[in-house]
Amino acid sequence: MRLLIGLVIGFVLGGFVGVTAFKALRASTELPRGVMQTTAYHFGELREAAKASDCLGQAEPHLQALALLADDVHPSFAELLPDDEIFNGYAAKLVTATRNARDNPGVDCKALNEAIAPIRDACQACHRDYKS
Ligand code: HEC
Repeated sequence: MRLLIGLVIGFVLGGFVGVTAFKALRASTELPRGVMQTTAYHFGELREAAKASDCLGQAEPHLQALALLADDVHPSFAELLPDDEIFNGYAAKLVTATRNARDNPGVDCKALNEAIAPIRDACQACHRDYKS
């Protein structure tokens, strides 16, 4: 009987600890994933805009959004990857690339595409090392 009670208490406590750990993990990935999803949305729109005839006009809001979101990459991953210099270096490259593209989108669609390329490179460089 004692064993049985012990087992029941063990299961209940174990389940509680498991759920708490799961919730904590999920909470720590929600913000970074949200930042990534929003970043991906604006980057997708930016690439579409770059193909439009009014490419510079259509690209502008997405260039603005990406430059702001890039600032959130490092802090939003801070809980998952605390003090990871390499990760933060990649995040800083995204900040530079998005600011450069926002501040110097070029004079035509061809130049805009060239200004966007370093953003794509910054996404890929970090994903290569950090995204499963
Ligand atoms: C500094 C590193 C870094 C940079 C720069 C970066 N990402 Fe990510 N990204 C990650 C990591 C790490 C994950 C995996 C997150 C996870 O699985 O919890 C990820 C995941 C994603 C996901 C999947 C999100 C999900 O719901 O699981 C998308 C989409 C994405 N990134 C898009 C982008 C785009 C677009 C860019 C560039 C504009 C970019 N990322 C730049 C690190 C980065």
